[in-house]
Amino acid sequence: MINILGVYFSNAPKIVQDFISANKILFENKKIFIIATMGLFSGDGTGCTARLFRKYDATVLGGLHIKMPDCIGDEKVLKKTPEANKALVLQAENKITAAVSELKAGTPLKQGLGIFCHIAGLFGQRLWFYKKTAEYKKKPDIDEDKCIGCGRCAKLCPMDNICIAESKAKSYDRCTMCYRCFSHCPTQALTILGKHVYEQCLLENYK
Ligand SMILES: Cc1cc2nc3c(=O)[nH]c(=O)nc-3n(C[C@H](O)[C@H](O)[C@H](O)COP(=O)(O)O)c2cc1C
Repeated sequence: MINILGVYFSNAPKIVQDFISANKILFENKKIFIIATMGLFSGDGTGCTARLFRKYDATVLGGLHIKMPDCIGDEKVLKKTPEANKALVLQAENKITAAVSELKAGTPLKQGLGIFCHIAGLFGQRLWFYKKTAEYKKKPDIDEDKCIGCGRCAKLCPMDNICIAESKAKSYDRCTMCYRCFSHCPTQALTILGKHVYEQCLLENYK
């Protein structure tokens, strides 16, 4: 079984943690390989997920860290050029191919599962930002002047956290910060961590 997650604050996103816990019976006695995508520094994201799986009696065979174009399009400092992002996607494809060969050969990579990553993730991020992934948030922030009430965000939200009322998007408090609504908003009316839209991370940009 392969589990893929994007690392949030050196942890698994809340939606991923809850998915694993809600389906724990499915993971009993299963062999799992964890792939963690990240912007810069996964720290302990893979390790936290591995510990959760082990709690539910799964065996974690290994892990792979892959850098991807990060989805935080409302923080300018994190943005890369489209060329740099395309290069990351190509590197990711190569890393996955190499990791599959290792897995088939019976020597799976163990990235993110060692004590160094545990300590780096804990002190580098989780001690300070643990709460960010422990709860859902009252997000996204919606600029009503820009919102045209098209409802795309509400349809795409995996948490059913957005509704349209009086022709405007409204958010509840169940946001897992996945940036799906943000990236697909046609009028750039939504923000999550930052205050301005610098880049919308759309798959078609990387083909
Ligand atoms: C709320 C949030 C927190 C993040 N925290 C980290 C982080 O701690 N380290 C990192 O390298 N990338 C971080 N990222 C970047 C994501 O790991 C990266 O964009 C990942 O590929 C997203 O995958 P997804 O689109 O499947 O959620 C974060 C992204 C978000 C939205």
